Parts: sequence; structure tokens; C-alpha cells
Amino acid sequence: MILCNELLGTVSALLAFIQGVKSANASWKKYVRTPNSRIVLPVHIPSTAGNVSNADALLTPSGEYAILSRATNDFTAPTIVVGFSLNVVGFPWCETGLFGTTEYLTKISDFTRSDNGDTITPGTDQHAVPAKPSTWIDVHGCANGNEIQVCADGLHDFRYLKIYLDALDSDVPYTSSSGQVYIDSISLNYTAFLGTLETFTGWFECSDAELTQYWYDAAYTNDMNIDTFLADYVIIDGAKRDRDPYVGDLAVSARSLYHTHNKSIAVRNILADLADHQRSDGWIPPASIYDYFLHTGDTSYILTHYPVLEKLLNSWYPSVTNTTINLLLKGTSLTVDTSSYGDYAFLPRNGSITYYNALYTLALRNAAAIATYLNHTSSAPTWSTRANSVADAINTQLWDLAASAYFDLRLHSQPPESVSGLSHWSQSASFPYGNAFYDSDALGAGFSSRVYAFISYFEISARFAANASASAVDEIKRLYGWMSVNDPGVTIMKGGFTSCAHGRSTGVLVVLTEYVLGVTATGVGLNEWSVRPVVVAGMEGARGLVPTLGGGLSVSWTAGRDGLEFEAMADAPVGTQGVVGVPVGLGFLGVNVTVDGTVAWEGGKSGKHTVSVA
Ligand SMILES: *[C@@H]1O[C@H](CO)[C@@H](O)[C@H](O)[C@H]1NC(C)=O
Ligand SMILES: *[C@@H]1O[C@H](CO)[C@@H](O)[C@H](O)[C@H]1NC(C)=O
Ligand SMILES: *[C@@H]1O[C@H](CO)[C@@H](O)[C@H](O)[C@H]1NC(C)=O
Ligand SMILES: *[C@@H]1O[C@H](CO)[C@@H](O)[C@H](O)[C@H]1NC(C)=O
Ligand SMILES: *[C@@H]1O[C@H](CO)[C@@H](O)[C@H](O)[C@H]1NC(C)=O
Ligand SMILES: *[C@@H]1O[C@H](CO)[C@@H](O)[C@H](O)[C@H]1NC(C)=O
Ligand SMILES: *[C@@H]1O[C@H](CO)[C@@H](O)[C@H](O)[C@H]1NC(C)=O
Ligand SMILES: *[C@@H]1O[C@H](CO)[C@@H](O)[C@H](O)[C@H]1NC(C)=O
Ligand SMILES: *[C@@H]1O[C@H](CO)[C@@H](O)[C@H](O)[C@H]1NC(C)=O
Repeated sequence: MILCNELLGTVSALLAFIQGVKSANASWKKYVRTPNSRIVLPVHIPSTAGNVSNADALLTPSGEYAILSRATNDFTAPTIVVGFSLNVVGFPWCETGLFGTTEYLTKISDFTRSDNGDTITPGTDQHAVPAKPSTWIDVHGCANGNEIQVCADGLHDFRYLKIYLDALDSDVPYTSSSGQVYIDSISLNYTAFLGTLETFTGWFECSDAELTQYWYDAAYTNDMNIDTFLADYVIIDGAKRDRDPYVGDLAVSARSLYHTHNKSIAVRNILADLADHQRSDGWIPPASIYDYFLHTGDTSYILTHYPVLEKLLNSWYPSVTNTTINLLLKGTSLTVDTSSYGDYAFLPRNGSITYYNALYTLALRNAAAIATYLNHTSSAPTWSTRANSVADAINTQLWDLAASAYFDLRLHSQPPESVSGLSHWSQSASFPYGNAFYDSDALGAGFSSRVYAFISYFEISARFAANASASAVDEIKRLYGWMSVNDPGVTIMKGGFTSCAHGRSTGVLVVLTEYVLGVTATGVGLNEWSVRPVVVAGMEGARGLVPTLGGGLSVSWTAGRDGLEFEAMADAPVGTQGVVGVPVGLGFLGVNVTVDGTVAWEGGKSGKHTVSVA
């Protein structure tokens, strides 16, 4: 039994640990955002322009047509914007007909692959509308066997679709900008992983409906980033782009996936791809294999890639470490020039950056845990010792006492990792839309007011871990609350216009499951776990299910309105074990804890109470 460090006052805590009672209740299902089917219809027409009639006909495949008309001298292109109820990803298509006289339909796209290097289109998808009724599916490619004219991107991630009658100069003679186009309906063939009520292997619900909805918004956002490549699932870099993610992103998006659907294969495939690209000096694109192992228990996978891990930690990292100061350096000062290596947000950082050194410490500790599990008894202590010396170097050399924050290139950056750093950050970096990732503009214009939901995950986690749950929830409400009420709504952005549905920004899901529900994995495949809910002031309860190898660990807790009682139920698969903690903090001396009706802790008499699940 572990008592958590959350103060509820002097409480009478009741803990029930009951095997065989599932706390599942279907009420969470109303929060799920996923479309009911792969064919998604728009729901409204936010605007039209120019000579348009019967635009509403587009919403249903009824045999009635919306008509776009344009005379040769009309300045304004007839335009219809169709709106979906939420962000969607896939291939737009027109079900029963898209025809015109000599006319052409153009769609304006958002920031897609074509805007980003693959330039078959200028950011709009063109279709030369034939004179006879036809069905048009927006697929990647160009018409007429011509490889540069009348081109379309195909896959899109959007909430609004703008259809207008116009022509690109470069598409002459295949298109023209005048005439009439009749459209019966438009719909979308949703392509990403369709996370339906049946596919959720984990769920979450708490007494705060807004927080609960953010969990499902995050789940849907993450699902939109899971797609197939060569017939197998992978995680991609934003719903609209079919490329490998920056793998730091997996630190968030993979965790969101482990907590929602049994599709860890998508992570496995990406990690394997990165491991396959290890260089002879040990470098690999950054990867987080430990979480995958922890949540799946995939030992054969770890055994296959263990040599990659050893080479990475024993060759590559020492080659970029300044051994005098025990810190990693980024830049040109060592023999290996890493100044051009990518960073999240393409930050132009170099030197002894806290961010890299903190991640290195974490990687060493996780690798030591893997080595211990695999009985590689010599590597485990080597890596643990090195982790401690890097951590010491961070704390002695990179901590700015005056500002109560860690240096990052002699500036301060998110996430601060100490209690005083957290309060520094809430004072100096707080905005109505979240907390900024830097507290100054020295590294880049606008940095002190720019919010990255990705890196905010680590700050919010630190707040929960440091018993600052009220400030964690305050930050969540500003950051995710802002995204939920501003376009595109529901899905969670990466930042700016590059992606409005990005898995790396879904950390709210992970913190709600791991802190508010309180479930974390402490052994591979969750065969060992910890259930230690953080009670946020005013919250009456939470419940949920966390996927495990044996079928799921369900937890449900309620806190009395007077703040004096707390009751938790946990139901874990047979053969697993864990610790359950109740949130009593400094009030522990007056607390009584019962387990299955038996007193386990009474008025300050300590004792570890082990419950075996038979
Ligand atoms: C936890 O936070 C509460 C409320 O902010 C505070 O009163 C308490 O002292 C903190 N407990 C610990 C162990 O830090
Ligand atoms: C804890 O149990 C003891 C012994 O049964 C009892 O005297 C005490 O009042 C209880 N404390 C609380 C806070 O309920
Ligand atoms: C399940 O949820 C519904 C709707 O919120 C509620 O009415 C019902 O009492 C709940 N049942 C259980 C067993 O918790
Ligand atoms: C709109 O288009 C229709 C069909 O071509 C035409 O009859 C009508 O005059 C146009 N209206 C305007 C205002 O241009
Ligand atoms: C939708 O996409 C799937 C997968 O690409 C495809 O198999 C299916 O035929 C498409 N359906 C329509 C109506 O385009
Ligand atoms: C470090 O970065 C700064 C700013 O980008 C640059 O001016 C400097 O040359 C870099 N130094 C090294 C050693 O890479
Ligand atoms: C390593 O750190 C020491 C102490 O700060 C410094 O004198 C030395 O120049 C550094 N070496 C490199 C290669 O940056
Ligand atoms: C590690 O050693 C223990 C004890 O000998 C053994 O039970 C376990 O199977 C070993 N684990 C692996 C992954 O080889
Ligand atoms: C997850 O999916 C894999 C592969 O389809 C299957 O073998 C496994 O049993 C599933 N696990 C759970 C917990 O449903």
C-alpha cells in the first residue's frame, strides 16, 4: 500500500479492492467522437458566394442539385463551403453525379502534402467536370494521363470544404472558369483508424464532463493519425500527411494509443523502421521503445532490438557527451557535428540543453529497467549510474536559482520540473490558450507567447506529479478548452496551420488516465501496475478501464462531497499485481484505510498491505 501525497484534510479513507466487479458503465460512450461509418456526410453550409443556387442540396444524396453558375465576365467564382460536424480525414467524393456543360470544379485545400514539397497541385484540387453525369472521387494524381495538369491531392484532413468553379491558367486547355456545374451531394470516405465503441479497450470518465470530453477528443485526434501503410497500421505525422512522425511525438501519441485501442502494432511498425535505420556510429532517429514494452510485454521485439539499444547508449551518446561536465552537447563543439539535427519545433538550440539531458537520463533509466528484465546484469547498473551522474549534472549546472527554472540555452523553457519551477512558469508563461514553451523571445520571435500542446503534456504531468493538481487542471482547461471551442474544434492541433489533428498533442488523455484515474504500468504488459488517483479539488469521482495483456484493469473512485471520504475499487486481471494508494497526504496520521472491509491502516500505524489477485 502506498499513500499518495495529495492532501484531503484529515480523512476517513475507505479503500475497497474487489476482484470480480467490473465498474464498466456504458455512459462514457456518449463522449466518443468517431463517425458512425466511413462514409461521412456534411451537416451544414456555412457560406456561399457568387451565383449559387440550392446549395443545401449538397447535404443529402437526394437527386436534387446544387448549381454553380458563372458567366465569362463574372468576377466572383461561385463558391459553396460545406461543413462537417468535426474534423475528418479521407477522400472527398460526390456520390451520384457531378456534371456540367464545359465546366470545372476546384477545391481549395488546407496545408497538405502538395503544399509541403510534393507539388502536383498548388494547394487546390482540380477536377475537369465532364458534360455527362459522373461520380468524382478525389484521388491523388492528374487527369488525362497528363502529369502536370488538372491535378488533385486526394487525401485531406479538414472540417470545411470549399467548392468553387474556377480554372488554373496552367490547366488550359482542359479547364475553363465559366459555365454551370450541378452537384448532387458530397461526402467523405474516412480513411484513418475508425475507433468505434467496440474498439475501445480503455476508457475514462470523471465527474467533470469537460475533462471527460477532452479525453475523447484526444482519442479521436490520435485515431486520425493511425493509418495503413503497406497493408499494416502505422502512426503518421498528422492526419493529412503520410510520413513518419518526429519520434518524440510518440512519447505522447503512442501512450494515448495504448490507453485507447489494441493497435500498438502501429507503434511497433514505426519503431522497427527507426531501429532499422541505425547508423554505424550508433545513432538512430529518436525512439521510445520502453513505453511500447511496458504496455505490450512484447519480449521478442525487445530481444530483437536490444543490440540497437546497446549500440545507441554505449557508442552514440558517449560520442556527444562532454565528459568533463557529464552533459550531452548539441552543436559543433564535439567531433560529431550535430548542429543540423532536428529538434521538436525546429528549435535552433545547441550546447548543454536541459531538454536533451533530461530525456537522456530518462532513456538510461528505462534502458536499465529493460536490461534488468532481460537479465543483462552488467548493463543495468552501468546505465543507472550514468543516469544519476547526468541527473546530478543537470541539477548542479543547469538550474537557475534566481529564476527557479532550468536553463535551456541560457533561457528557460518548458517543461519546468520542480515545484518552484512550476510556479515560475504559471506566473511568467500563462495565457488564456495555455502556457508558452519559452519565457523569452531570445531564441525566436513570438516564442514567449507560443503554446505547444505537445510539450505542455510534460508540464501538465509534472504538475500532477508535484501535487499541483489544481494548476494542472487549470492549464488543461485553458489549453484544451481553447482548442475545443475554436475551429476546427474537437480535434487537437499540432500548431499553426501544419496540422489541426495531431497525435502528439493528445497528452490530456494520458494525464487523465495516469493521474486522475491514477493507473500507471510498473511492469511489462501491465502485469504490475499502480493505482494512485489524484483527487482534484471539487471532483467527485472518476472511472475507467486501462488495457492490459489479460483484458483490462478497471478502476472507479468517488470522493465524498465533504472531502472526508474516499472510496476506490480496482479490478485487475488474474495473475497481475500492483499497489493501490489513497490520496491522504499529510493527513495520514488520522486516516483509517480498509481493504475489502479489513483495516489495513489505522490512525497512523503504517504497513504495506499486499493484495494478491487470485
Ligand atoms: C499538496 O497540495 C496541497 C494543496 O495545494 C498542500 O496543502 C499540501 O501541503 C501539498 N502536499 C504535499 C505533500 O506537498
Ligand atoms: C479510525 O479508527 C479508530 C479506531 O477504530 C477510530 O477511533 C477513529 O475515530 C477512526 N478515525 C477516523 C478519522 O475515522
Ligand atoms: C451507469 O450510467 C448511467 C447513466 O449515467 C446511470 O444512470 C447508472 O446508474 C450507471 N450504472 C452504474 C451501475 O453505475
Ligand atoms: C445565375 O446563373 C443563372 C444560370 O446560368 C442565370 O440564369 C442567372 O441570370 C445568374 N444570375 C446572376 C445574378 O448572374
Ligand atoms: C473508401 O475507401 C476504402 C479504402 O480505401 C475503399 O476500399 C472503398 O472502396 C472506398 N469507398 C468509396 C465509396 O469510395
Ligand atoms: C549555436 O547556436 C547559435 C544560434 O543558432 C549559433 O549562432 C552558434 O553558431 C551555434 N554554435 C554552435 C557551436 O553550434
Ligand atoms: C567541456 O566542458 C569543459 C568545462 O566547461 C570545457 O572547458 C570544454 O571546452 C568542453 N569541451 C567541449 C568539447 O565542449
Ligand atoms: C531472467 O532470469 C530469471 C531467473 O533466472 C528467469 O526466470 C527469467 O525467465 C529470465 N528472463 C529472461 C527474459 O530471460
Ligand atoms: C490485441 O490484438 C492482438 C492482435 O490482433 C491479439 O492477439 C490480442 O489478443 C489483442 N489483445 C487484447 C487484450 O485484446
